Amino acid sequence: MTPAERAPALEGPTFTSDERRAALEAPAPTPASRAIALEGIAAEVRACTRCRLHAGRTRAVPGEGHPDTEVVFVGEGPGMNEDRQGRPFVGRAGDLLVRFLATIGWRREEVFITNIVKCRPPDNRDPEPDEVAACLPYLQRQLQVLDPALIVTLGRHSMGRFIPGARIGQAHGTLHPVDPATGAGSAMVYAMYHPAAALRAPDVERQSYDDAAGIPAALLEARRRRSATPAEARPVDASPANAVPTPSPPDTGPADPALDAPTFF
Ligand code: URA
Ligand code: SF4
Repeated sequence: MTPAERAPALEGPTFTSDERRAALEAPAPTPASRAIALEGIAAEVRACTRCRLHAGRTRAVPGEGHPDTEVVFVGEGPGMNEDRQGRPFVGRAGDLLVRFLATIGWRREEVFITNIVKCRPPDNRDPEPDEVAACLPYLQRQLQVLDPALIVTLGRHSMGRFIPGARIGQAHGTLHPVDPATGAGSAMVYAMYHPAAALRAPDVERQSYDDAAGIPAALLEARRRRSATPAEARPVDASPANAVPTPSPPDTGPADPALDAPTFF
């Protein structure tokens, strides 16, 4: 058995086979059916050999979080700490991400956090296009299950998947419609710098705190669009030119958890 196969299951409830059958047969997704579907994807990721990155991994990192969240964060790929623990964003970049979330009153357990590639590229190099292509079906299926209102991209690679052709220097802090072909049927995407970039440059870090402050307003706008637009009429043009202005975040007091927190049950 390889270390990857020994990796623990996603944190969360366990289900009996009767509960699994009932959840999978239910007409609408339930918290249990989502958790079970995500567990199934995670198990496939841990056993995956679809690209060369499987050869160098200690553990694959499928992603983790609340199965009923409205918000999915997508990074680039596991680093050394993530590869050791089998969990996303658990090193210094992850600590910074948690601090960004804390400034808007959110905890990482309330959202879902994953990456474009699920296995660590050697020496933290950028993932190659064929590795990204091999791994994308997993993200696509995770997004189909989660059906988020908002995707927050962390860094260029993740942004490139959801806002083709965008440049991070212009696109960070902006909100765009998402092409349902990504798996997210009716989501908007909000771009941020990668927290690792913020760790290297104080001006990027400052900007990232500002961008994080815009997440609750981005979620409200994403919710508004989702409830206002019938699925068949939703825009599929996710190009930078199609950006939607993000309303300014309220500048008074802490975020109102009832209004701003991701919904979970
Ligand atoms: N950087 C990423 O892009 N993803 C992680 O999970 C950790 C660091
Ligand atoms: Fe499979 Fe993705 Fe890992 Fe490649 S990076 S081996 S496609 S899980």
